[in-house]
Amino acid sequence: MKLFDLNGKVALVTGGAGVLGSTMARSLAEAGVKVAILGRTAAKVEKKVAEFKDAGLTAMALVADVLDQQSLEKVRDQLTSEWGALHILINAAGGNAPEATIGPDMHPFDLSIEAFTRVNALNLQGTVLPTLVFGPLMAKSGKSSIINISSMASAQAITRVVAYSTGKAAIDNFTRWMAVELARRHGAQIRVNAIAPGFFIADQNRRLLLEENGELTTRGKTIIDNTPMGRFGEAEELCGVIHWLSSDASGFVTGTVIPIDGGFSAFSGV
Ligand SMILES: NC(=O)c1ccc[n+]([C@@H]2O[C@H](COP(=O)([O-])OP(=O)(O)OC[C@H]3O[C@@H](n4cnc5c(N)ncnc54)[C@H](OP(=O)(O)O)[C@@H]3O)[C@@H](O)[C@H]2O)c1
Repeated sequence: MKLFDLNGKVALVTGGAGVLGSTMARSLAEAGVKVAILGRTAAKVEKKVAEFKDAGLTAMALVADVLDQQSLEKVRDQLTSEWGALHILINAAGGNAPEATIGPDMHPFDLSIEAFTRVNALNLQGTVLPTLVFGPLMAKSGKSSIINISSMASAQAITRVVAYSTGKAAIDNFTRWMAVELARRHGAQIRVNAIAPGFFIADQNRRLLLEENGELTTRGKTIIDNTPMGRFGEAEELCGVIHWLSSDASGFVTGTVIPIDGGFSAFSGV
């Protein structure tokens, strides 16, 4: 399985203290990757790195906001001086916010443009900016792979969450665009792909999917009814594709958006 070998590589996961980001980061670390966990809340990032180190894994805490170029450049310099290279960038910082969601009694025309802009920026600019800041280091580091996080909301309309959806749809387009531009300049040296997770319980969507007592909300039930496998995903179920996209096993794959969704995107609902 040499094609899948990641031992000795360096990865950076934005939103790496979050539910999906930390699971992907940990699975890479368990494959021998040195993993930098980037997040904006120092306590959360440091706690996650301490957990990794306690498990004998190699990890570094980087505190930065994915929307703040200066803070990203600062941690890029820290990463460069400590580990000298970067081969895998997972842009996992992102998510929705309640203020940008159309409530059950609201009309779409009531959408707050401030909240729309904020959530849109977190998802789109929060993926573009780290790519611009860390990309040049990756280009100098040998074969490397950028993995963006899209969503089921990018290709089909998912009610109520327009700011998140338009941000994720733009990530798909950016993934293809950057993949093409980089392949034309660097061949297979830097590939760019995205995964599109189906529905996984995480901090940013818990309130929409689960009641306080853990039962499904009406929306959560609709999602499960439209997921042929009949359940939410487990974060670990992202990791096989992450390993494949990070490694030489996917050496001719760039510009793709790969659903990991229990069949949600294949299903018409009938
Ligand atoms: N869960 C799902 O079903 C699902 C489905 C499709 C796509 N996704 C995507 O998967 C990615 C990971 O989300 P998740 O579900 O694991 O949610 P999560 O647990 O809320 O993780 C999101 C992480 O992003 C960090 N973050 C937010 N804004 C940031 C900023 N400006 N700078 C740096 N870090 C920031 C958060 O840090 P703080 O805690 O400090 O705010 C948090 O650690 C997101 O892009 C999300 O849209 C999730």
